[in-house]
Amino acid sequence: MTNPPANPVLRTSGLGVTYGGVHAVSDVSLTVGHGELVGLIGPNGAGKTTTIDAISGFVAHRGSVVLHDVDLSGASPHERVRAGLARTWQAVECFDDLTVREHLDVARSRGGLAALLGDAVRFRRARGADDEVDRLLELLDLGSVASSVVTDLPHGTQKLVGVARALATGPSAILLDEPAAGLDAAEGRRLSARLRDLAESGTAVLLVDHDVDLVMHTCDRLVVLDFGSVIAEGAPEQVRSDPRVQAAYLGTAPS
Ligand SMILES: Nc1ncnc2c1ncn2[C@@H]1O[C@H](COP(=O)(O)OP(=O)(O)O)[C@@H](O)[C@H]1O
Ligand SMILES: [Mg+2]
Repeated sequence: MTNPPANPVLRTSGLGVTYGGVHAVSDVSLTVGHGELVGLIGPNGAGKTTTIDAISGFVAHRGSVVLHDVDLSGASPHERVRAGLARTWQAVECFDDLTVREHLDVARSRGGLAALLGDAVRFRRARGADDEVDRLLELLDLGSVASSVVTDLPHGTQKLVGVARALATGPSAILLDEPAAGLDAAEGRRLSARLRDLAESGTAVLLVDHDVDLVMHTCDRLVVLDFGSVIAEGAPEQVRSDPRVQAAYLGTAPS
């Protein structure tokens, strides 16, 4: 799938964010279809994280964010999650003493950590919760470490837990901010394969990463940002050979 989908799950139109006088993101329109894996790339400071912050509602923005034909443009981050939009963060965020399974249990509980601690026994017995957690553990190949404390695991595995945790809210679209940062080549390949499985399971995935090779090999379609604006989009090979993209990456050119 290298053309934008006719009926996208996620659609932004004219997205813009200004910090003080800085136009961090200007007029970004992009779409992600059902089961599609779209890469959002661009040099440092291009506006990738700000785009994810805007879509997920963590910064005020111009333009619109539409999920399944529901306009979320004025919605809070919490409302966007409830509507089916999930995200991860550039840094790994884990609770120190919880196991992988407990992280997912917490994320599954709608009230979050406070609700879980208040009613842990009943929550653990809730029918259905364990089935979904088991499905996520299998999807991300985390079954063998389900009982391990997350902070004891290798960095790459912690990143997968972060993705699993975002998925535990049951999103139809997920925004991943640099999930491969700090991973070695083997961990990067493993992550890439799991993200393909995730998209094939029907989730719309927007993947931000500075590892151009990983993004090129993983994604169906790419959108390239430079100075906050879209400078190219299309199939990975087409984008790689685009002179504007090569110029934007001068010094960190796609290999
Ligand atoms: N909270 C902020 N306040 C002011 N400027 C910011 C803030 N966050 C990002 N910026 C600026 O916005 C631009 C885009 O940043 P960012 O979205 O983090 O880029 P990327 O994720 O592509 O590296 C940069 O010029 C950055 O300095
Ligand atoms: Mg960033």
